[in-house]
Amino acid sequence: MSMSIKFRSGENVPMEMHKVRMVQKVNLLPVDERVKAVTEAGCNTFLLKNRDVFLDMLTDSGVNAMSQEQYAAMMNADDAYSGSETFYRLEKVIQEVFGTAFFLPAHQGRACENIISKSFVKPGQTVIMNYHFTTTKAHIEVNGGDVVEIVSDEGLKVTSDLPFKGNLDIDKLKSEIARIGAENVAYIRVEAGTNLIGGQPVSVANMRETAAIAKQHGIMTVFDASLLSDNLYFIKTREPEFANKSLNEITLELGKMFDITYFSARKLGCARGGGIMVNREDLYLTMQGLVPLYEGFLTYGGMSVREMEALAVGLKEGLDINVIEQTPIFVEALCNELLKNNVPVVTPPGGLGCHVNAEAFCSHLPVEEYRSGALAVAMYIVSGVRGMERGTLSESRNADGSERYAEMELLRLAVPKRVFTLSQMKYVADRLTWLYENRELIGGLKFTFEPKILRFFFGKLEATTDWPQKLATKFKADFGDSL
Ligand code: F0G
Repeated sequence: MSMSIKFRSGENVPMEMHKVRMVQKVNLLPVDERVKAVTEAGCNTFLLKNRDVFLDMLTDSGVNAMSQEQYAAMMNADDAYSGSETFYRLEKVIQEVFGTAFFLPAHQGRACENIISKSFVKPGQTVIMNYHFTTTKAHIEVNGGDVVEIVSDEGLKVTSDLPFKGNLDIDKLKSEIARIGAENVAYIRVEAGTNLIGGQPVSVANMRETAAIAKQHGIMTVFDASLLSDNLYFIKTREPEFANKSLNEITLELGKMFDITYFSARKLGCARGGGIMVNREDLYLTMQGLVPLYEGFLTYGGMSVREMEALAVGLKEGLDINVIEQTPIFVEALCNELLKNNVPVVTPPGGLGCHVNAEAFCSHLPVEEYRSGALAVAMYIVSGVRGMERGTLSESRNADGSERYAEMELLRLAVPKRVFTLSQMKYVADRLTWLYENRELIGGLKFTFEPKILRFFFGKLEATTDWPQKLATKFKADFGDSL
């Protein structure tokens, strides 16, 4: 429900606090063509062509709706290799929003991860974190480091009513530091809106405790603020201490709390780019040289100045509850509709998107046939909706070549900010419910081409039987000539 508007009926309606003034037409292919498209895409939704997709719920990354103020700002950008006025405007906004001392621009979130990992992860060292993100872990491992995850046990349970499932387990934090030795911990990383466990938030109280323990042991802290927008909404609505604090006050506290804060501006700020904020000059100077080497000069870091202008406006707009609530209230509405129909989803609803529990949905499939991947393919076939596998396919194999089974098998249906309407969410719930009722028709997948690094991006798979055709046949029997 929008924070601002209640309905007479008491019904929870996620109200759009904006109006749509520019649109993009979408197409829905007939079901047989959807089978063909996904088969040709190697049963990998990353490889579908967007023209074959009805609702693109792969990710929110780089596809959030921008405001007219952001578009207007893009027209007033200062193109310069060095010393661009645009950079100084962005730097000033970052200072106002986060209160951090130094800023390094980068072309996206993983570019920040490259710079941070290259600068601070030495072979044999460990990074302790609530939970990994795919690119984060890959960068740490490429630099010879190890990842230890200490999210609370409840965070890995699919259903829960814990408000902050992304919290670090403080006892585990202490025991891991003791076990590894503070000198072997490269840094402690906190990920806001913990992506891979279902967009689950971290509380300020938990972050304060984590930062204090890190300080006691002289360990550096890194905050991944890519999903901060949703996390801020949950801090404001679920953590009583902050009910009457402004979003800027909360962000300023977080900005000061960590030695380094980085973010993907494809998510935070609704533009395309990224950046690293630093509170300690020594750390800033260690990273500085890598920006011109990998990204671009210090005053653009691989971003277009137009995107930087849009980002500066987007970061400010992200301090407005009516702006940042849009994704979480739509996710909640979609999850509630699915739960009403007994479709298993991660609870409580988090940010970023609706996360369907593929382990339960496809419990009839052997785990080695990639339940989440199969569910992603089936969902596309029955709806033209493109989701993202967030399960075993998104993991990499163990050193001995065996599968590393994911702790959670999820299909993520991302809800980019201010992009979809309520009727579109109703459609998603309708088709997913039908699929759940017909879940026995979903079969498994096997690799035909498996890349070594981040295999989920461009790996190719095929159905183990002709189940996609059988699913389409049942769809036509039930829906007749409906698309
Ligand atoms: N950290 C988190 C928590 C993320 O969710 C992402 C990206 C990154 C870092 C990397 O940022 O894409 O700009 O390089 N997540 C996207 C997603 C890709 O679909 O969830 P990036």
